[in-house]
Amino acid sequence: MTAPNKPLSVVGETQEALEHDPGFDFKPAYTYTTKTGTWRIPPGLKRALPFYLHKPWARLGRPIRLFQYMAKHLGPVAHYRLFGIHIVFVNEPEYIREILVNQGPSFVRERTVRRLKVLLGEGLLTSDDPTHKRSRRIAAPAFHRGRIAAYADTMVASAATMRQSWHDGEELDVVQAMMQLSLEIVARTLFATEVDADVRAINDQTNVIMGIYNYLVAFPNLEAVLHWPIPGVMRFRKARAKLDRVVIRIIADRKADGLEKLSTRSDLLSLLLVARDEDGSALSDEALRDEVLTIFLAGYETTANALSWTWYLLSINPDAFDRMAAELEQVLAGRAPTLEDYPSLKYTRMVIAESMRLYPPVWAMGRMSTVPIDLGPYRLPAGTHWFFSQYVLQRDARFFPDPLRFEPLRHTEEESAKRDKFAYFPFGGGGRQCIGEGFAWMESVLVLATLAQQWRMDLLPGQKVDVEEKITLRPRYPIRVRLTKRSLHGASQPQMVHDKAMQRDTSQQAVV
Ligand code: HEM
Repeated sequence: MTAPNKPLSVVGETQEALEHDPGFDFKPAYTYTTKTGTWRIPPGLKRALPFYLHKPWARLGRPIRLFQYMAKHLGPVAHYRLFGIHIVFVNEPEYIREILVNQGPSFVRERTVRRLKVLLGEGLLTSDDPTHKRSRRIAAPAFHRGRIAAYADTMVASAATMRQSWHDGEELDVVQAMMQLSLEIVARTLFATEVDADVRAINDQTNVIMGIYNYLVAFPNLEAVLHWPIPGVMRFRKARAKLDRVVIRIIADRKADGLEKLSTRSDLLSLLLVARDEDGSALSDEALRDEVLTIFLAGYETTANALSWTWYLLSINPDAFDRMAAELEQVLAGRAPTLEDYPSLKYTRMVIAESMRLYPPVWAMGRMSTVPIDLGPYRLPAGTHWFFSQYVLQRDARFFPDPLRFEPLRHTEEESAKRDKFAYFPFGGGGRQCIGEGFAWMESVLVLATLAQQWRMDLLPGQKVDVEEKITLRPRYPIRVRLTKRSLHGASQPQMVHDKAMQRDTSQQAVV
């Protein structure tokens, strides 16, 4: 077994950025009255956000730091202003439930998600009702439990092909590998499409768009500048056009099968093609393109990030890897996993759950209220933007003692039942909860099990690991590992470890 890596260097920088800043202009909660009502505003920043951009906790492109700082120094509901808009950061499960569930109909997607329309059009993720209701109704059958079960073999087969292509001692970037694998799985299962160079190119174009996304959403009126010859905007247009070409080709290929054949199939693309509205009309080509691209991107990138972070955490927590390997040996005894094994891979699932606690692929969510909202002692006008962050809340010691320690056993049924559902919510909640949750769990457990049966990964020394908060939480740098082949019956067959203290503290390893 390789020695665990040295602590990574940027830890201190982040901790310092979160210490109390003596020059911090704090404003206590206050009340004011306008023509439309009386408002009670939570404590927050005295001035608009741009005033603080020179502060280490408010650096551009590092919103997690701002949220962590506000949660730490201002409490569970904190306020700031940007471009004259009220923005509230909420860090309390009970209030998150209010926004997503109890008062859910009073909220719509906020600006940064709506901005995604320039890429995804009016697909499931970006649309509001009534378009959203229709999309959800059409897509739902492809995600039913029984349907997802039928995808299990394809998931395992794709992972098995990848594990066979690896060589003992080989070095690779696990992020690249997981992106490629989960893209293939989405293409094969949901779109019944073979993976060719075109489909692989989806990943390259997504990388381009992720690279410039934060820059793009900073434009106050993005839709208006989309045709301007600005380099970043031109790169975006080119990448979007390439994605469009691939998606339109996939749709055309399937359409060629004809309606009769399509009606007998139950992959998502076929369901979308045969779907009819109440008036009998089919989805327009534009609507089809929006749905297909949405599911492709929402479906592969998130799971790939979850798997990449999981491999990273396992590489610095070898005891957890050994315990998982023991479970694989016990349940599978050397054969490839199947659908029937899935419920028995309990520790493997807990490893993924713990990885998504520390590195949630969707690291924050936002909503805009369309009516005045009462939340606890506060009242805010319509048009307020509300944010909450899985990353910040899931590292809160109130809900996860010793929060930076990687401890899969936090996710046993008993431990999970003790927690508020909105203290751990990697898949969101309420009417817009992730439609792909069941798919993502099955894929990540089966893929991890298939790969870990035969391979362990050790982080190459001297690497920087940091998060990059884009639409999803991506690793900022490649995560380079060395592969070591295990015998299919378990290279080492360790005793089951019950001592919690054996798990390593991720604070010594991870950057943030
Ligand atoms: C580990 C993997 C995943 C994570 C952490 C994740 C997380 C989330 C979260 C938090 C939301 C809610 C966003 C909000 O309400 O603002 C969401 C929505 C969504 N997810 Fe996932 N997701 C994952 C995998 C998938 C997969 C595999 C698919 C499809 C194959 C998918 C498709 C979608 C779609 C279409 C929505 C929008 C649903 C709606 O608004 O009705 N996701 N996801």
